[in-house]
Amino acid sequence: MKTSVVQVDGECPAGQAEEALRQAGEIIKGGGLVAFPTETVYGLGGDALNPESARKIYAAKGRPSDNPLIIHICRFEDIRKIVKELPGKAVRTADAFWPGPLTMILHKADCVPYETTGGLDTVAVRFPSHPAARKLIEYGGGYIAAPSANASGRPSPTRAGYVTEDMDGKIEMILDGGDVGIGLESTILDLTAEPPRILRPGYITQEMLEEVLGKVEMDAGLAGDGSGQAPKAPGMKYRHYAPKGNLLVVEGPPEQVIAYINRQTARDGETGEKTGVLATSELLEQYHADVVQCVGSRGDEEEIARNLFSALRAFDDRGVTRIYSESFPDQGLGQAIMNRLLKAAGHHVVNVRKAGMDAEKEAGSMVAIGSDHGGFALKQRVIHYLEERKISYEDLGCYSEESCDYPVFGHAVAEAVASGKCEQGIVICTTGIGISISANKVPGIRCALCGDPLSAKLTRLHNDANMLALGAGIVGGNLALEIVETFLNTPFSGEERHRRRVNLIEK
Ligand code: TXA
Ligand code: MG
Repeated sequence: MKTSVVQVDGECPAGQAEEALRQAGEIIKGGGLVAFPTETVYGLGGDALNPESARKIYAAKGRPSDNPLIIHICRFEDIRKIVKELPGKAVRTADAFWPGPLTMILHKADCVPYETTGGLDTVAVRFPSHPAARKLIEYGGGYIAAPSANASGRPSPTRAGYVTEDMDGKIEMILDGGDVGIGLESTILDLTAEPPRILRPGYITQEMLEEVLGKVEMDAGLAGDGSGQAPKAPGMKYRHYAPKGNLLVVEGPPEQVIAYINRQTARDGETGEKTGVLATSELLEQYHADVVQCVGSRGDEEEIARNLFSALRAFDDRGVTRIYSESFPDQGLGQAIMNRLLKAAGHHVVNVRKAGMDAEKEAGSMVAIGSDHGGFALKQRVIHYLEERKISYEDLGCYSEESCDYPVFGHAVAEAVASGKCEQGIVICTTGIGISISANKVPGIRCALCGDPLSAKLTRLHNDANMLALGAGIVGGNLALEIVETFLNTPFSGEERHRRRVNLIEK
């Protein structure tokens, strides 16, 4: 298929843009696909009430068809046709934030095909403010289903050129409206929940919504912290927004973040990796890496939001294989920024925050943690525990529940401990056995598989164990955290007989 790209921004003559929008509307009504600018990101539009259009959208994006689409409207009244009922809270929310970067989830009307809602009985509705989007919706019949116009797994496109990269040859038309204003996708608010719940943070923040609606919750599944909760917006469970290079988010005070990143990029450089840093303008000049990409000023969150996705794409364009990113305060618009950044990183975070430690010593103070797929969920819980206690850690993977090989992670954590980079290690698989055996093959490692706090205490006191192995299928939930706590807080006894025995092990 030949994809035509047509200008619709302020630069081109009004009549020409109008003509292009009419033509695009006809394509949509005829069951075709058109990418178009909105104030958040570019969307990939098709007729929301035509099941065939939804199927085409999934195919063009390479997206799983259980991931529902947002229906875009261009007049508030039009919402009535596609929802079962319109609660007062929806009207108040619309009054305050529509047209604009906010999507509401409501119960769907029968006319909305399950192809559009990914099989759900609820529907996502958004009334965008972008003038070209509104015209297109009007000319396209009033109801346009549109996910972000990226190929599945790529950062959402913030300019037409990025849409072309992902969609050329797959859709009929791309409307080029220049760079978008916001740069992160709309806030998704679930109004079928009580209190209303944010399924995806965005430009319209929790605080702004609470001013209109009273209490509004964040979906517990968003944290990706292994609290066991799955995110309620199906799309939030996929590894989205992912750059091709391996991305690590580094948290902590600026000096320590800079020192850590520079140490890592130096090490990566030696092994032939091409390194990149996603940096704020304030710290930009202090990094050493092949590509240092500015995402904006720390003082201007809107600028960071606008630049985030294009910065991630820029690393891809330059073939960067290892990317390190600063992290941002998790409040206001920062919630949306961190949500996208952590998803891009597959929640791969290193925390170099530990009060009163200098940057060099910091490297030796961390807990290295790793698991296979069977231990993944428990690993995320342990990480949450470490975060709450401000214990710095390095998460060495795995980063999803996809099947993987436990010895890889047993070794990786053991190497981090044996090299002195981290002080202690924690490894988890279903029984804890395989991963502990693989860790114990690394010289200098004493990895103890513990099923209760007493074993954890004694192996620290008697064996000076430097790694803990847990069986996720054996010590679920709180017991595992008690074991971790005991292990991390018990010092080696230092008694002569124990020293002698530890030395014997090492021989
Ligand atoms: O800013 C935006 O919202 C952009 C522009 C183009 O409007 N669109 C966008 O669409 O980001 P998409 O498909 O990339 O993301 C839609 C998200 C997905 O995470 C999906 O799972 C969720 O909305 N979603 C859609 N319908 C839902 C429903 N009925 N219940 C829960 N989540 C839903
Ligand atoms: Mg998307």
